[in-house]
Amino acid sequence: MTFVYKAEHSRGKIWAELFARKAPEVDFRIWPDIGDPGKVRFLAVWEPPENIAEQFPNLEILFSIGAGVDQIDFSKIPEKLPVVRMIEPGLTRAMCEYVLWAVLSIHRDMPAYRRQQQQKNWTSLRVWPSSKRRVGVMGLGQLGRAVLQQLNSLDFQCLGWSRTAHQIDSVQCFHGALMLNVFLSQCDILICLLPLTDSTRGILSADLFKHLPKGAALVHVGRGEHLQPSDLLNALDSGQLADAILDVTMPEPLPAESPLWSHPNIAITPHIASMTQPETAIDVVLDNIQRHRAGLPLLGLVDRARGY
Ligand code: NDP
Ligand code: OXD
Repeated sequence: MTFVYKAEHSRGKIWAELFARKAPEVDFRIWPDIGDPGKVRFLAVWEPPENIAEQFPNLEILFSIGAGVDQIDFSKIPEKLPVVRMIEPGLTRAMCEYVLWAVLSIHRDMPAYRRQQQQKNWTSLRVWPSSKRRVGVMGLGQLGRAVLQQLNSLDFQCLGWSRTAHQIDSVQCFHGALMLNVFLSQCDILICLLPLTDSTRGILSADLFKHLPKGAALVHVGRGEHLQPSDLLNALDSGQLADAILDVTMPEPLPAESPLWSHPNIAITPHIASMTQPETAIDVVLDNIQRHRAGLPLLGLVDRARGY
């Protein structure tokens, strides 16, 4: 039984060591060294290869090496092939760290102090208690819920928005297009943790920003294509938004001429909010292989109709 890994090479080596230790019976291979294609049962990818059905006629599961699956063109994946995305504790923890850093930084006015420092300006701003700050998360999935739990423990006022209804302790939950504006009107800090689908592409737009309280801030850790960059720049220039922290952009990397790079109210990181940690993800992948063998439901199975 062969497991082929097709993603970042140096992390592939860590996966190889972990497979050798935890599942020595599996013939683990790193792309393009696939061995006998007929023996490949499991394929873990960021981007799948072309002609997946012809190349791997006996494939049983396609794993996404990341939490998102928008990089996969489902029209090219055999209909019956299960696609499983990454839900693993290391990735969730790192996302919580990043979002907490971003929210605390905005909450404690660090972007403003950074600008003040550049002007050698020593001015203190009022310190507000976290209980007065309203933080809203778009996307109440694995990551959104984990982030809200952490924000709750720091006493922020927590809100969330999703496609279907949710109930989460100490979080005011909203769902669907009809409730979006009521949710937005109460978010001093807005976090985007949505998957990229046809319904969420371009959602971070002028129309959305105008419903936020004036001077709100954006933390964007979803996908670059959620954001309409010129609308963000206009919202920042007009003062409708005070600051934005962007971990994802379209394209990636952002070209040197993009005005997002040099805007004083934007901080950019190179899509590092989180990443799959092989050391914790290995157990999830092996568990899913066992579940598959036992005919049990797979964890993180993607619903192709929903697109996430
Ligand atoms: P999940 O699939 O667990 O959760 C997705 C959430 O988004 C669900 O709550 C879902 O609603 C909601 N949602 C989907 N479509 C809509 C819509 N049209 N309107 C309102 N809500 C919607 O995903 P994860 O939490 O695991 O991951 C979320 C995303 O985070 C990933 O898809 C990826 O884009 C991004 N990500 C970014 C990383 C980075 O480093 N920047 C790292 C990892 C992930 P419902 O619950 O009702 O179905
Ligand atoms: C992911 C990512 O989806 O790193 O896992 O963006």
